Amino acid sequence: MKVGILTSGGDCPGLNAVIRGIGKSIFENVKNVELIGIADGYGGLIRGECRKMEKTDFTGILTLGGTILGTSRQPFKLMTVEDENSVSRLDLMKQNYKKMGLDCLLTLGGAGTHKTAALLSAEGCNVIGLPKTIDNDIWGTDVTFGFHTAVDIATECIDRLHSTAASHGRTMVVEIMGNKAGWLTLYSGLAGGADVILLPEIPFSIEKVAKAIERRAKSGKAFSIVAVAEGAMTIEESKMKKKERAEKRGADTTITNRLAKAIAEKAGVETRVVVPGHIQRGGSPSAYDRVLSTEFGSFAGKLVKDGRFGVTVAMVKGEVTYNALADIAGKAKLVPDGCQEIKTAESIGICLGR
Ligand code: F6P
Repeated sequence: MKVGILTSGGDCPGLNAVIRGIGKSIFENVKNVELIGIADGYGGLIRGECRKMEKTDFTGILTLGGTILGTSRQPFKLMTVEDENSVSRLDLMKQNYKKMGLDCLLTLGGAGTHKTAALLSAEGCNVIGLPKTIDNDIWGTDVTFGFHTAVDIATECIDRLHSTAASHGRTMVVEIMGNKAGWLTLYSGLAGGADVILLPEIPFSIEKVAKAIERRAKSGKAFSIVAVAEGAMTIEESKMKKKERAEKRGADTTITNRLAKAIAEKAGVETRVVVPGHIQRGGSPSAYDRVLSTEFGSFAGKLVKDGRFGVTVAMVKGEVTYNALADIAGKAKLVPDGCQEIKTAESIGICLGR
């Protein structure tokens, strides 16, 4: 049996831990198996770039950040676009799946990866997905691997901002990753004790944010921490089409800089912008993610053994299970207004900008 593995989309801590879990569990439980590593995500499948992986490839990588297979972003919308010879990337992937002699393909990735995985599965390939992303926005799983490590990193950033913010009496506006989903901002904001948390799911009023900071200043708290998701938007912006919003923002693709400026003007405080960026995705996975990744990888190995394809691994109420790819692909798990974490934030006076 030949099993292909690829990692696609933005990387995150835990990818190698999952690869290790898959390899170890397959070598342990499946007979006459060959594992094929595909380079750079769907890019390698499109180009036909792969190599046989040995048992030694799966050792010593539990704590390693990034992905030993490499990754790339391959937009879903381009998958079925045909070139001058009427060949699409999907055609090439199907051809290479056959050429590589694969019996199944394990795809480690986020929302986009899952959409392509569902497409490949619908086209007859045997696919098993594994839910990766620091955004935690994959439908049907309570948690994705990589998320909790990113929460830990972003929390440490906020922690470290507290002392310098307090020393200078400044308002620190920290931009947390997450374009559509605000889970990372919500969790790290709560964990780091942010005073304002702004999410893509809850459009905010700059006036309300400025008022909250003014109130803090009047009560003797000279500094404030504003955790803003990179995809957060004002109420006004939320009424615009994506293109219109992008035009209005110009070079400043996120709201963060303008927000910091507006806070300084309206609340009369000194502000600084901090963008931890890809640091949130770098380095070793946390203990939580090492365990989760090992559980997910080993479960995927079991799915291979059982010949259960067209599915993706999930954690549901503390149990590792799976969902049909067709059921979850294209759906985003966004922060629902009124969820426990939102209620908690508001109950302790954190301003959500409304
Ligand atoms: O999907 C994970 C993520 O880190 C998002 O939070 C962020 O918006 C995006 O990837 C950044 O993408 P890139 O690595 O391509 O800059």
